[in-house]
Amino acid sequence: MNRYREPKYRTILEAGKGELEALREKSLHSIWKPRFHIHPQFGLMNDPNGLAFYKGEYHVFYQWYPFDAMHGMKHWAHVKSKDLVNWERMPVALVPIEDYESHGAYSGASIEVDGKLYLYYTGNLKYGPVERSANQCLAIMEESGHITKYEHNPVVAGTPKGYTGHVRDPKVFRKDDTYYMLLGAQREDLTGAIVVYESSDALNWTFKGELDVAIDLQGYMWECPDYFELDGKDVFIFSPQGIAPSGHSYHNVYNVVVAVGSLNVKQLQFEVEFYQELDKGFDFYAPQTFEDENGKRMLFAWAGSGEVAYPTDQEGWAHCLSIPRELSIENGKFLQKPAKQMALLRGQLISGQGEVQGYEAVANEDTSYELELHFKPADATKFGVELFASEEERLVLTFEKDAQVVTVNREQFENAFGGEYGFVRSEAINLSGDVKVHIFVDRSIAEIFINNGEVVFTTRVFPKEDSKGINVFSNGTVAYTFTKYTMKDGISI
Ligand code: FRU
Repeated sequence: MNRYREPKYRTILEAGKGELEALREKSLHSIWKPRFHIHPQFGLMNDPNGLAFYKGEYHVFYQWYPFDAMHGMKHWAHVKSKDLVNWERMPVALVPIEDYESHGAYSGASIEVDGKLYLYYTGNLKYGPVERSANQCLAIMEESGHITKYEHNPVVAGTPKGYTGHVRDPKVFRKDDTYYMLLGAQREDLTGAIVVYESSDALNWTFKGELDVAIDLQGYMWECPDYFELDGKDVFIFSPQGIAPSGHSYHNVYNVVVAVGSLNVKQLQFEVEFYQELDKGFDFYAPQTFEDENGKRMLFAWAGSGEVAYPTDQEGWAHCLSIPRELSIENGKFLQKPAKQMALLRGQLISGQGEVQGYEAVANEDTSYELELHFKPADATKFGVELFASEEERLVLTFEKDAQVVTVNREQFENAFGGEYGFVRSEAINLSGDVKVHIFVDRSIAEIFINNGEVVFTTRVFPKEDSKGINVFSNGTVAYTFTKYTMKDGISI
């Protein structure tokens, strides 16, 4: 029996009397809790897990450590929804009490098998502060919503030869009559890879080998693989760790890459047509996708990052997920757009237009809203918008025509954070025409979709209570139109 113990390896079942209520109380009045982004009531959330539209309902599970804003014993928390935007908090789905998951129920994905939702996850095992291994496990959700761990767990015991204890995050899919499981892995030479298992019944798995992904990125660990078909192509998403920044890319602590090409899983080959960083930052990791009720490919990501201290740590909670995003490939470009379902949360509309030389305030009293801005730059070479703006604070989105670049700067906040990884993110962009910006602001997060989702920034900021202005600016003349909606609550605080 594996009994390596540290205080952080404690399950919610071991909570003291009144402990969870006290944790909840601690952040009840936080001004930073999102109103429509899935977030934990207390403790730390990270990766979305097991995403599915199953029997008429959307299920989102997520990595959760209940007791503090730190990484510890990971549970699978659970929320569900009928419409993808109004979420109901459910009892915790997986509590790691078994020996085969002694140090946490780590990330994984789901697939419907014979009318049941199979939730695959990694049983994390620690033998000391560093020494570790991993099992791959299964839990089964019935139509009634009842979840049980598979009696013959683990379905994959230990890690394959040639790899370290870092093998995790099962993504299971079916091709022809075979099930395949992709796992993020670390080779013994401390480089990242993807390994593949196969099964005819989704229960008994055999090791098939390593997936050859023809990509010139390495890193020391690849986490959270995802695979799906989209608009006639195969898409592979993964979260590599240890990629050095280069140009406008890979400036986050850890990064996410999407590769578009074709998969020959029998031959263990993924041929890459093109690949790119999925989101330009700052807070975006470990995304997962699933098909919605209309057959659209949707993505949720952890809007957070490892290694960085966040201002809400002091309130005993950390992180949220992104909003759901619809993926597509159009004209050879990989796009992410806000899910259409987000429109269900719209409240009051205001819209208008103007011409700005210098600064102009687009009045705002809200801390959660949707904003669409359409810029028509005349002679301006530099223009953009400030969000969360007050005298002292602002998040600045700037378009620079000469450099053909877009930047996001989050330095100007009293609670600025994560500066060790830089306060600015950027991306090359064609600025020869008009610019369309679609933004979701929710108290402490902005998701910024540019030109139909060609460039996306996911950014946490922790503004003071009165920092909520929206200002457009320009060094020449820019005509703009804007549409803004207040947003209704999508999840309880
Ligand atoms: C990614 C990750 C996964 C792991 C999980 C643990 O953020 O490190 O690889 O399963 O988080 O919470």
